[in-house]
Amino acid sequence: MKILFVGDVFADIGRRVLSERLESLIAEQGVDCCIANGENAAGGHGMTGNLARKLRRYGVAAITGGNHSFTFPDNDSSFMNEPHILRPLNYPPGNIGHGSTVLTLPDGRTVGIVNLQGRTFHREIIDCPFRTGKAAIEALREKTSIVIVDFHAETTSEKLAFATMMDGRASAVIGTHTHVQTADERILGKGTAFISDVGMTGPEDSIIGMKAEGVIRRFLLQTPVRFEPAGEGPMLNAVLVVVDDDTGRALSIRRVFERIRFSL
Ligand SMILES: [Fe+2]
Ligand SMILES: [Fe+2]
Repeated sequence: MKILFVGDVFADIGRRVLSERLESLIAEQGVDCCIANGENAAGGHGMTGNLARKLRRYGVAAITGGNHSFTFPDNDSSFMNEPHILRPLNYPPGNIGHGSTVLTLPDGRTVGIVNLQGRTFHREIIDCPFRTGKAAIEALREKTSIVIVDFHAETTSEKLAFATMMDGRASAVIGTHTHVQTADERILGKGTAFISDVGMTGPEDSIIGMKAEGVIRRFLLQTPVRFEPAGEGPMLNAVLVVVDDDTGRALSIRRVFERIRFSL
């Protein structure tokens, strides 16, 4: 199975990148299943049901989330109950949505997906992603051989530690959240594909998605500044992972980094 995992889709520019490029990329690469992190899809923070439906139309089969998953700009969170929309599993019980799923592709093949959030440098007090994630992966492996993990976290070490702990049990552990694509993609010893961070699908001409001016101002003044999403330098960041259907082991992982020229 060929899986395309798209890094955090950021605001309208990120959505437009997918609307203009995803369908052709899927066709060119023979992608069977596209998963995208959508925590920043709505103006940089959160997601709406309407936008989730749009991403699906562009070719995204499942949407994962992160620390912005619980921001609902149009005050409607009901879309979070859809089976193909995930948020980090290790948030306290009682929150809307779910953190793992088994997706059935049109050809009948199945892929398990787990969404986790790291704890290092995150302000949320959430359950241990290592223990929660291990249990979830083991449970999914009872149902399907392919399990893809979106580990949404700040530090490379936390993501690599989890991937190494689950080497041979998860097909891929894909890091998200930093919005900066790392060049460390590889297959671990027992067959788990890994990258510390897949990056962002959004404005390259920005500070991780936001206009530089406000971000620099906050660093200089150390007081609250309203950030505005940037809109220049459209890029698509993703990884292509090929997985053996029977064993669930990853055969290859390749980075995708494309600068996009929008049609007029
Ligand atoms: Fe993000
Ligand atoms: Fe995030």
